[in-house]
Amino acid sequence: MKTTPLSLPSFAKINLFLKVLGKRRDGYHELCTAFQTISLHDELNFTEAPGLTLVCADRELASDENNLVLRAARALREHSGTERGARIALEKRIPYPGGLGGGSSNAAVTLLGLATLWELDIGTRELLGIAAALGSDVPYFLYGGTALGRGRGTVIEPVRDQPEMRLAVVTPPVPVPTAEAYRRMAAPDLTNTDPKSILKICRDDAEKLDSGRLKFTNDFEPVVFGIEPEIKAVRDRLLELDATTALLSGSGASVFAIFDNDDKRREALAVFAESVGYCGFAVETVSRAAYRKHLRPCEHLLPKDI
Ligand code: C5P
Repeated sequence: MKTTPLSLPSFAKINLFLKVLGKRRDGYHELCTAFQTISLHDELNFTEAPGLTLVCADRELASDENNLVLRAARALREHSGTERGARIALEKRIPYPGGLGGGSSNAAVTLLGLATLWELDIGTRELLGIAAALGSDVPYFLYGGTALGRGRGTVIEPVRDQPEMRLAVVTPPVPVPTAEAYRRMAAPDLTNTDPKSILKICRDDAEKLDSGRLKFTNDFEPVVFGIEPEIKAVRDRLLELDATTALLSGSGASVFAIFDNDDKRREALAVFAESVGYCGFAVETVSRAAYRKHLRPCEHLLPKDI
C-alpha cells in the first residue's frame, strides 16, 4: 500500500463564448464553446486506504453518494478492475452549482489523482472516455488553458492560450438548473444539419478568438436572465462598475467580468461583498502550461500538448 498522499489543485473554468447550435438526437445539445481555466481552485488530497471515502468540511457534499468525486473514483475502479481504495479529502472553494465546472474539475482531477496513486496502466484516451461518461464538462479538465469544446462539450481542441486576463467572478445565491436552462432554450433539432457546417462555425469563432476579434457571448444569457433576473442585475452592475466585459459562465449563476485596472476590480468586488449569500473572487486566467505544471505528478496521463 502506498503511504505518500497526493495533493492536487482542482481549478475552475469560465466559458469565453458559448453557442448552442441545436438539439441532437440523443437529447443533448450541440455546443461550440471556449473553455478557459481560472485561478480559483479546490484542493484534493488522495491517500491509499481501504474502500472509498470522501471527506469534506461541507457535510452535505461529503455525504452525497452522487458526488462526482466518488462517481469518478468508482468509475475508475470499475474500468481498471483494481481493488485498491482511497480516502479523498476535498477542500471546497469553488461555489456550486455555479457554472464554473467545480464538480467536473473535481471529477477529472480524481481520475488523474487515483490513476497515479494506484499506479494504473491506463491511457489518456481511456481516461477521456471515462471523463465524458461522467459529465459533459469533465474531459476539458484533462487539458486546461484555453480550449474549444464541441459536440456535447466533450470534444476538446486545445488552442493558443489567451493573453492573461484579470477577472472578478461573482456568484449570486441562485441555483440555475442546467437541464431546465437547455430545455428553455428551445434549440432547433439538428437532425438535418451538416456536421461540416457546425465545424466551420466553431473554426471561424476560434480564429476570431485567437486574433482578439471575438465578442464574448453566451447563448444561455437570455434564458437564464429570464429565469433569474437577479443574475442579469449582477451582469449589469459589473458593467456599470467599469468592467470591459461581463458575461454569464456556463449556465450560471456565476458572472465573470474583465477589468483592466486592479483598483476597479477591488471596488467592484467590495460592492458585492455586502450582498448576503454572494461569493466574489479576484482571479486570473491560467495558461495550459501552468495548468499542466500544477498537475505534474500526473503528467504521464495528460493529453499531448499542442
Ligand atoms: O453532461 P452533464 O451531466 O453535465 O449535463 C447535464 C444536463 O445538461 C444533461 O442531462 C442535459 O439535459 C443538459 N445538456 C445538454 N447538452 C449538453 C450538455 C448538457 O442538453 N451539451
